[in-house]
Amino acid sequence: MDNRMWGGRFSHGPDAIMEEINASIDFDKKLFPNDIAASKAQARMLAARGIIAADDAEKIREGLDTILREFEAGTFTFSRSLEDVHTHIEARLIELIGPAGGRLHTARSRNDQVATDLRLWVRDAIDAIDAGLAELQQALADKALEHAATVMPGFTHLQTAQPVTFGHHLLAYVEMIARDRGRFADARKRLNESPLGSAALAGTSFPIDRDQTAAELGFDRPTANSLDAVSDRDFAVETLAAASLCAVHLSRFAEEIVVWSSAGFGFIRLSDRFTTGSSIMPQKRNPDAAELVRAKTGRIVGSLTTLLIVLKGLPLAYQKDMQEDKEPVFDAMETLNLAITATAGMVADMEPDKAAMRKAAGAAYSTATDLADWLVQSLDMPFREAHGVTGRVVRSAEEAGRPLHRLTLEELQVIEPRITPEVFSVLGVSQSASSRTSFGGTAPNNVRKQARRWLARLKKEAGA
Ligand code: ARG
Repeated sequence: MDNRMWGGRFSHGPDAIMEEINASIDFDKKLFPNDIAASKAQARMLAARGIIAADDAEKIREGLDTILREFEAGTFTFSRSLEDVHTHIEARLIELIGPAGGRLHTARSRNDQVATDLRLWVRDAIDAIDAGLAELQQALADKALEHAATVMPGFTHLQTAQPVTFGHHLLAYVEMIARDRGRFADARKRLNESPLGSAALAGTSFPIDRDQTAAELGFDRPTANSLDAVSDRDFAVETLAAASLCAVHLSRFAEEIVVWSSAGFGFIRLSDRFTTGSSIMPQKRNPDAAELVRAKTGRIVGSLTTLLIVLKGLPLAYQKDMQEDKEPVFDAMETLNLAITATAGMVADMEPDKAAMRKAAGAAYSTATDLADWLVQSLDMPFREAHGVTGRVVRSAEEAGRPLHRLTLEELQVIEPRITPEVFSVLGVSQSASSRTSFGGTAPNNVRKQARRWLARLKKEAGA
């Protein structure tokens, strides 16, 4: 069958395989509402500038509304021979309203349509992700406030390092997510320019008003260079880069959830809502949601790589390669959205086992640094020397098979005679955590203050 959009200079229709490799409708139908919105803006502007008659523009806008309703009702008919979402909508418009429908494509091209539609889609996706991330921050900050004084081990090299609080650990992710949200907001600002009216690549001789279409579509301004506008997918790359880093943050957290909920750690219990059972081992509670959040990072980072490679050799202006931008963008943003929602659900439901966390926090001489600091503060010992003394204390505790606070004063004095009984006040895990009052430190009072600051900020944002 001839292509009704561009078949004029052809004597044959395309091969079936040509049609199959060329058609994007199976995935770009996601742009349907965006394409309708951009076309409505175009029709109104064309009439306002006297390029088409006002009653034609009215018929076009009504026709487009009908088409959107058909799409939403699931009655719109798709056919691969019509290639993409833009040709589908235009063909249906002409079918519905006749020749007036053929006037819509004046002074525009599918190249600017697709660039416009995808920006609109990505903008909405960023807004949805930002809302999801705010909810995740809320869940984390709520839990952090509740557990501002719940002591757990802090790790470096996954070796027990110093006691921290669970609240402090959760707030670390609130910070990361805040930066993720900042990156998305930044990308959104830069993408919010309208390519519509670039008219394929060179602009147009019609007296169009690009400011009008930009404003109707909520863009800040029209893009300033027609060649750049139809060739640029920076906005998608930037968004996928932000999505990738956000996914990496979620994945690190997911990994911690998996580890914490294992029998070896037993720090948290996930709810039934976010675990699954085993088909053979009746006792199992598997953290599948966390594992999948961790794994889905692969798809998201993969999407970024895909898009960068699609773009890297493309001369200006539009090349059909760019049709391959959509699937990675759609998949990454939808996948990230799901991962965020699942993570927020896990956080809201998770129950820490305070006793297990506390016990682990005190294991492996985790307050050795507190002892060294005490030697510095009470005996005016240089830190490097205090480090050596403490190392010898740890060795003797190890030989005695006891934790630091179970050594006797006499045993300690064998190593350093000036040690006094006051030293025992710094060897407990709660004292250790509470002493970390420096700005940004883990002391419960700090954590409470930070959690409240975040909660107030999130509330203000939600009200704004
Ligand atoms: N389906 C195309 C895409 O997704 C739309 C633009 C096609 N333009 C063209 N001149 N063939 O990129």
